[in-house]
Amino acid sequence: KCPSLEVIPVIDSTNQYLLERVATLPKGACCLAEYQQAGRGRRGRQWLSPFGSNLYLSMYWRLDAGIAAAMGLSLVVGVAIAEALESLGAEGIKVKWPNDLYYQDRKLAGILVELSGQAGEAAHLVIGMGLNIAMPEAEGEAIEQSWTNLSEACDSLPERNELAAALINQLHSALNDYEESGMEGFTSRWNRLDNFLDRPVKLLMGNRVVEGIARGINSQGALLLETEQGISPYLGGEISLRGC
Ligand code: ATP
Ligand code: BTN
Repeated sequence: KCPSLEVIPVIDSTNQYLLERVATLPKGACCLAEYQQAGRGRRGRQWLSPFGSNLYLSMYWRLDAGIAAAMGLSLVVGVAIAEALESLGAEGIKVKWPNDLYYQDRKLAGILVELSGQAGEAAHLVIGMGLNIAMPEAEGEAIEQSWTNLSEACDSLPERNELAAALINQLHSALNDYEESGMEGFTSRWNRLDNFLDRPVKLLMGNRVVEGIARGINSQGALLLETEQGISPYLGGEISLRGC
Protein backbone atom coordinates (compact mmCIF):
# COMPACT_ATOMS: atom_id res chain seq x y z
CA LYS A 1 0.00 0.00 0.00
CA CYS A 2 2.85 2.38 0.82
CA PRO A 3 4.56 3.18 -2.54
CA SER A 4 7.82 4.38 -0.99
CA LEU A 5 9.27 4.67 2.48
CA GLU A 6 12.52 6.43 3.24
CA VAL A 7 14.10 6.00 6.64
CA ILE A 8 16.54 8.80 7.37
CA PRO A 9 18.43 8.75 10.67
CA VAL A 10 19.02 12.50 11.06
CA ILE A 11 17.02 15.19 9.28
CA ASP A 12 15.92 18.80 9.79
CA SER A 13 12.22 17.95 9.50
CA THR A 14 10.48 15.03 7.77
CA ASN A 15 7.72 17.45 6.69
CA GLN A 16 10.26 19.81 5.14
CA TYR A 17 11.96 16.91 3.35
CA LEU A 18 8.74 15.80 1.65
CA LEU A 19 7.52 19.36 0.98
CA GLU A 20 10.67 19.97 -1.08
CA ARG A 21 9.88 16.89 -3.18
CA VAL A 22 6.10 16.98 -3.71
CA ALA A 23 6.46 17.35 -7.48
CA THR A 24 8.18 13.97 -7.78
CA LEU A 25 6.55 11.86 -5.06
CA PRO A 26 3.95 9.12 -5.52
CA LYS A 27 0.81 9.61 -3.46
CA GLY A 28 1.27 7.91 -0.09
CA ALA A 29 5.10 8.21 -0.03
CA CYS A 30 6.44 8.26 3.52
CA CYS A 31 9.52 9.42 5.36
CA LEU A 32 10.56 8.32 8.86
CA ALA A 33 13.39 9.77 10.94
CA GLU A 34 15.13 8.91 14.20
CA TYR A 35 16.01 12.49 15.06
CA GLN A 36 14.87 15.90 13.83
CA GLN A 37 17.10 18.93 14.20
CA ALA A 38 14.27 21.33 13.38
CA GLY A 39 11.04 19.44 14.09
CA ARG A 40 8.14 21.85 13.89
CA GLY A 41 4.59 22.22 15.11
CA ARG A 42 1.83 24.64 14.17
CA ARG A 43 2.52 28.34 13.74
CA GLY A 44 6.31 27.97 13.82
CA ARG A 45 6.42 26.23 17.19
CA GLN A 46 9.11 23.69 17.92
CA TRP A 47 8.48 19.93 18.07
CA LEU A 48 11.02 18.42 20.40
CA SER A 49 12.50 15.46 18.53
CA PRO A 50 15.25 13.72 20.50
CA PHE A 51 17.09 10.68 19.17
CA GLY A 52 15.89 7.15 19.43
CA SER A 53 12.82 7.22 21.62
CA ASN A 54 9.99 8.70 19.52
CA LEU A 55 8.48 8.41 16.07
CA TYR A 56 8.66 11.15 13.44
CA LEU A 57 6.67 10.31 10.33
CA SER A 58 5.47 12.27 7.31
CA MET A 59 3.32 11.19 4.38
CA TYR A 60 2.69 12.88 1.05
CA TRP A 61 -0.92 12.95 -0.15
CA ARG A 62 -2.61 14.63 -3.09
CA LEU A 63 -6.23 15.76 -3.00
CA ASP A 64 -7.60 16.24 -6.49
CA ALA A 65 -10.57 18.11 -5.02
CA GLY A 66 -8.17 20.93 -4.08
CA ILE A 67 -7.20 22.93 -1.03
CA ALA A 68 -10.76 23.51 0.21
CA ALA A 69 -11.05 19.75 0.77
CA ALA A 70 -7.99 19.86 3.05
CA MET A 71 -9.98 21.61 5.80
CA GLY A 72 -10.39 19.32 8.71
CA LEU A 73 -7.77 16.89 7.48
CA SER A 74 -5.85 16.93 10.77
CA LEU A 75 -9.01 15.54 12.40
CA VAL A 76 -9.06 12.60 9.99
CA VAL A 77 -5.39 11.98 10.73
CA GLY A 78 -5.98 12.19 14.49
CA VAL A 79 -8.73 9.58 14.30
CA ALA A 80 -6.49 7.33 12.17
CA ILE A 81 -3.62 7.51 14.67
CA ALA A 82 -5.86 6.83 17.67
CA GLU A 83 -7.47 3.86 15.90
CA ALA A 84 -4.09 2.47 14.87
CA LEU A 85 -2.82 2.69 18.47
CA GLU A 86 -5.99 1.03 19.75
CA SER A 87 -5.52 -1.80 17.25
CA LEU A 88 -2.10 -2.42 18.86
CA GLY A 89 -3.58 -2.68 22.34
CA ALA A 90 -3.26 0.88 23.67
CA GLU A 91 -6.24 1.96 25.77
CA GLY A 92 -7.54 5.43 26.59
CA ILE A 93 -6.01 7.25 23.59
CA LYS A 94 -7.92 10.48 22.92
CA VAL A 95 -7.97 13.27 20.34
CA LYS A 96 -7.87 16.98 21.05
CA TRP A 97 -9.25 19.39 18.46
CA PRO A 98 -7.75 20.14 16.00
CA ASN A 99 -4.36 18.39 15.83
CA ASP A 100 -3.27 16.55 18.97
CA LEU A 101 -3.49 13.12 20.57
CA TYR A 102 -3.83 12.90 24.31
CA TYR A 103 -3.51 10.24 26.96
CA GLN A 104 -4.74 10.99 30.48
CA ASP A 105 -5.00 14.72 29.69
CA ARG A 106 -1.40 14.92 28.49
CA LYS A 107 -0.08 15.46 25.00
CA LEU A 108 1.04 12.20 23.41
CA ALA A 109 1.35 13.19 19.74
CA GLY A 110 0.96 16.16 17.43
CA ILE A 111 -0.11 16.44 13.80
CA LEU A 112 1.04 19.03 11.31
CA VAL A 113 -0.59 19.19 7.86
CA GLU A 114 1.25 21.45 5.44
CA LEU A 115 -0.02 22.37 1.98
CA SER A 116 1.26 23.49 -1.33
CA GLY A 117 -0.98 24.25 -4.31
CA GLN A 118 -3.24 27.02 -5.51
CA ALA A 119 -7.01 27.35 -5.38
CA GLY A 120 -8.47 25.38 -8.31
CA GLU A 121 -5.50 22.99 -8.48
CA ALA A 122 -4.92 19.65 -6.79
CA ALA A 123 -3.66 20.17 -3.24
CA HIS A 124 -0.27 18.69 -2.38
CA LEU A 125 -0.28 17.82 1.30
CA VAL A 126 2.40 16.73 3.67
CA ILE A 127 0.97 15.11 6.77
CA GLY A 128 3.40 14.90 9.68
CA MET A 129 3.05 13.23 13.02
CA GLY A 130 5.30 13.16 16.03
CA LEU A 131 4.50 10.44 18.56
CA ASN A 132 6.24 10.13 21.92
CA ILE A 133 6.98 6.49 22.63
CA ALA A 134 9.45 6.34 25.50
CA MET A 135 11.01 9.77 25.79
CA PRO A 136 12.95 10.05 29.04
CA GLU A 137 11.61 12.70 31.46
CA ALA A 138 14.83 14.70 31.22
CA GLU A 139 14.61 14.92 27.42
CA GLY A 140 11.15 16.46 27.62
CA GLU A 141 11.99 19.06 30.24
CA ALA A 142 11.91 21.86 27.66
CA ILE A 143 8.24 21.15 26.81
CA GLU A 144 6.11 23.77 28.52
CA GLN A 145 2.91 21.70 28.64
CA SER A 146 2.03 18.29 30.11
CA TRP A 147 3.15 15.50 27.83
CA THR A 148 3.30 11.72 27.96
CA ASN A 149 4.57 8.60 26.20
CA LEU A 150 2.87 5.68 24.46
CA SER A 151 4.66 3.41 26.96
CA GLU A 152 2.20 4.73 29.59
CA ALA A 153 -0.81 3.61 27.55
CA CYS A 154 0.40 0.09 26.67
CA ASP A 155 1.08 -2.94 28.85
CA SER A 156 3.77 -3.90 26.39
CA LEU A 157 4.99 -1.54 23.69
CA PRO A 158 4.51 -2.69 20.11
CA GLU A 159 7.66 -3.30 18.14
CA ARG A 160 8.76 -0.12 16.33
CA ASN A 161 8.31 -1.37 12.75
CA GLU A 162 4.91 -2.83 13.61
CA LEU A 163 3.88 0.54 15.04
CA ALA A 164 5.02 2.46 11.97
CA ALA A 165 3.27 -0.01 9.64
CA ALA A 166 -0.01 0.19 11.60
CA LEU A 167 0.08 4.00 11.51
CA ILE A 168 0.83 4.16 7.79
CA ASN A 169 -1.85 1.59 6.90
CA GLN A 170 -4.55 3.21 9.01
CA LEU A 171 -3.64 6.63 7.64
CA HIS A 172 -3.98 5.36 4.05
CA SER A 173 -7.31 3.81 4.81
CA ALA A 174 -8.67 6.91 6.60
CA LEU A 175 -7.51 9.24 3.81
CA ASN A 176 -9.19 7.04 1.21
CA ASP A 177 -12.41 7.03 3.28
CA TYR A 178 -12.19 10.82 3.50
CA GLU A 179 -11.75 11.20 -0.26
CA GLU A 180 -14.76 8.97 -0.88
CA SER A 181 -17.19 10.34 1.68
CA GLY A 182 -15.72 13.51 3.24
CA MET A 183 -15.90 14.40 6.94
CA GLU A 184 -19.38 12.98 7.37
CA GLY A 185 -18.21 9.50 8.38
CA PHE A 186 -15.61 10.91 10.76
CA THR A 187 -17.81 12.87 13.13
CA SER A 188 -18.90 9.81 15.10
CA ARG A 189 -15.38 8.31 14.95
CA TRP A 190 -14.01 11.60 16.30
CA ASN A 191 -16.64 12.11 18.97
CA ARG A 192 -16.00 8.64 20.43
CA LEU A 193 -12.35 9.58 20.93
CA ASP A 194 -12.77 13.27 21.89
CA ASN A 195 -10.82 14.08 25.06
CA PHE A 196 -12.94 17.14 25.85
CA LEU A 197 -16.42 15.96 24.84
CA ASP A 198 -18.94 17.46 27.30
CA ARG A 199 -16.17 19.09 29.33
CA PRO A 200 -15.63 22.80 30.09
CA VAL A 201 -13.05 24.35 27.79
CA LYS A 202 -11.87 27.71 26.56
CA LEU A 203 -10.99 28.71 23.02
CA LEU A 204 -8.11 31.13 22.56
CA MET A 205 -8.40 33.23 19.40
CA GLY A 206 -5.73 35.91 19.39
CA ASN A 207 -6.64 38.02 22.41
CA ARG A 208 -10.25 36.81 22.46
CA VAL A 209 -11.24 33.96 24.80
CA VAL A 210 -14.58 32.12 24.72
CA GLU A 211 -15.53 29.66 27.44
CA GLY A 212 -18.14 26.93 27.17
CA ILE A 213 -18.78 23.20 27.05
CA ALA A 214 -17.22 21.24 24.17
CA ARG A 215 -19.87 19.30 22.21
CA GLY A 216 -17.74 17.44 19.66
CA ILE A 217 -17.43 18.38 15.98
CA ASN A 218 -19.87 18.93 13.11
CA SER A 219 -19.72 17.51 9.58
CA GLN A 220 -17.30 20.29 8.50
CA GLY A 221 -14.88 19.42 11.29
CA ALA A 222 -15.73 22.58 13.24
CA LEU A 223 -15.54 22.42 17.01
CA LEU A 224 -18.97 22.82 18.62
CA LEU A 225 -18.99 25.01 21.71
CA GLU A 226 -22.03 25.46 23.92
CA THR A 227 -22.34 28.80 25.71
CA GLU A 228 -25.34 30.64 27.17
CA GLN A 229 -26.10 31.77 23.60
CA GLY A 230 -26.45 28.16 22.37
CA ILE A 231 -24.15 25.87 20.35
CA SER A 232 -21.84 27.52 17.78
CA PRO A 233 -19.28 26.03 15.37
CA TYR A 234 -15.65 27.20 15.46
CA LEU A 235 -13.27 26.54 12.59
CA GLY A 236 -9.83 27.90 11.71
CA GLY A 237 -6.13 27.38 12.20
CA GLU A 238 -5.70 30.23 14.66
CA ILE A 239 -7.89 28.72 17.38
CA SER A 240 -6.35 26.89 20.36
CA LEU A 241 -8.45 24.79 22.73
CA ARG A 242 -7.62 24.46 26.43
CA GLY A 243 -9.33 22.53 29.23
CA CYS A 244 -10.67 24.67 32.10
P1 ATP B 1 -2.65 24.29 19.90
O1 ATP B 1 -3.81 23.93 20.77
O2 ATP B 1 -2.69 25.67 19.39
O3 ATP B 1 -2.38 23.28 18.84
P2 ATP B 1 -0.19 23.48 21.17
O4 ATP B 1 0.49 24.07 22.34
O5 ATP B 1 -0.52 22.04 21.22
O6 ATP B 1 -1.46 24.35 20.91
P3 ATP B 1 1.17 22.99 18.70
O7 ATP B 1 1.76 23.94 17.74
O8 ATP B 1 0.07 22.09 18.26
O9 ATP B 1 0.71 23.82 19.96
O10 ATP B 1 2.35 22.06 19.23
C1 ATP B 1 3.61 22.58 19.56
C2 ATP B 1 3.74 22.54 21.07
O11 ATP B 1 3.77 21.18 21.49
C3 ATP B 1 5.05 23.13 21.56
O12 ATP B 1 4.94 24.51 21.74
C4 ATP B 1 5.26 22.37 22.89
O13 ATP B 1 4.51 22.95 23.93
C5 ATP B 1 4.63 21.03 22.62
N1 ATP B 1 5.63 19.99 22.26
C6 ATP B 1 6.80 20.11 21.58
N2 ATP B 1 7.41 18.93 21.44
C7 ATP B 1 6.62 18.01 22.04
C8 ATP B 1 6.71 16.63 22.23
N3 ATP B 1 7.71 15.89 21.77
N4 ATP B 1 5.69 16.05 22.93
C9 ATP B 1 4.66 16.74 23.41
N5 ATP B 1 4.52 18.06 23.25
C10 ATP B 1 5.49 18.69 22.58
C1 BTN C 1 1.89 20.03 16.69
O1 BTN C 1 1.43 19.49 17.71
O2 BTN C 1 1.96 21.24 16.53
C2 BTN C 1 2.34 19.19 15.53
C3 BTN C 1 3.66 18.52 15.72
C4 BTN C 1 4.06 17.72 14.48
C5 BTN C 1 5.40 17.07 14.61
C6 BTN C 1 5.71 16.19 13.44
S1 BTN C 1 7.18 15.19 13.70
C7 BTN C 1 7.16 14.70 12.02
C8 BTN C 1 6.80 15.94 11.22
N1 BTN C 1 7.97 16.75 10.94
C9 BTN C 1 7.91 17.94 11.53
O3 BTN C 1 8.79 18.82 11.48
N2 BTN C 1 6.76 18.07 12.23
C10 BTN C 1 5.95 16.87 12.10
